[in-house]
Amino acid sequence: HDLDTFIAGLPKAELHLHIEGSLEPEQMFAFARRNGVAIPFASVEEVRAAYAFSNLQDFLDIYYAGADVLRTEEDFHDLALAYFERVAQDGVVHAEIFFDPQTHTHRGIPFGVVANGLLAGMEAAEARLGITSKLILCFLRHLDEEDAFKTLTQAQPWLDRIAGVGLDSSELGHPPAKFERVFAAAAAMGLKRVAHAGEEGPPEYVAEALDLLAIDRLDHGNRSLEDPALVARLARSSMTLTVCPLSNVKLCNVASVDAHPIDRMLQLGLRATVNSDDPAYFGGYVADNYRAIAQGRDLSRRDLVTLARNSFLGSFLSDDEVAAHL
Ligand code: ADE
Ligand code: ZN
Repeated sequence: HDLDTFIAGLPKAELHLHIEGSLEPEQMFAFARRNGVAIPFASVEEVRAAYAFSNLQDFLDIYYAGADVLRTEEDFHDLALAYFERVAQDGVVHAEIFFDPQTHTHRGIPFGVVANGLLAGMEAAEARLGITSKLILCFLRHLDEEDAFKTLTQAQPWLDRIAGVGLDSSELGHPPAKFERVFAAAAAMGLKRVAHAGEEGPPEYVAEALDLLAIDRLDHGNRSLEDPALVARLARSSMTLTVCPLSNVKLCNVASVDAHPIDRMLQLGLRATVNSDDPAYFGGYVADNYRAIAQGRDLSRRDLVTLARNSFLGSFLSDDEVAAHL
């Protein structure tokens, strides 16, 4: 169909993708089998049936459990390459992907196994598919500052291949302030900074991420809309918001795609982008997210072009690289 062809044909960057969230149920079974790991599901259908969430924590519990099948460098390589193969058909030409090292190091998987596997998958994707990518190390905010510092230290040998740091996991009760010093240390190492804020948390968390973490990009940011002064600040500073429509609906932060504020964000002058977050868990990859809002909010083709352009403007590519994509 026409709209699908138009969306798939729009070159786009994906800026909010947790690589562990691209683990499809079929892959979960394949990795479990090859690693001799038991999983509490009998079939792919049973896994999919378990993906009914009422909030972020509900999802996170099952997402961290799923990640347990990831054990070897090969697993991380295969996971990353499968993601790029899938989004090649969505018109993705560049992706800046998150990974959660603590989810793995806390299970005894060395940082290097995770990083080397993912980086190898990213390299293979560029060679085979021509998709460029960058890696962003996310700190789990439900863990403490000391553990985040430990993770940043473990990352030292890979810092030339890591574009930036991020902040994810349970937002409520874990404000950005908790990681002010870790983000300052990351900034001093020349790393870019992003943070999930305003997904479930209040607008004050978004302001904290700006003021205390000096973020270069805002992940989600939906609840910024509750504070007009904050919206004006985000618009004035051309802050990129990595919005994830199907995620917002699946985690019950937005009632339905028909009620999604993506068009309001654009009208308010916000540099919004469209992303998939955890596509294997939320029912769609990036083109599915474009399609859902295009239909749900009756977006014009001009709006869709703006969203795709914003994905390059908000990327960590150089000015020349961005210009080459516009
Ligand atoms: N980890 C994976 N997906 C996430 C999300 N949407 N919010 C917070 N942490 C996450
Ligand atoms: Zn996310």
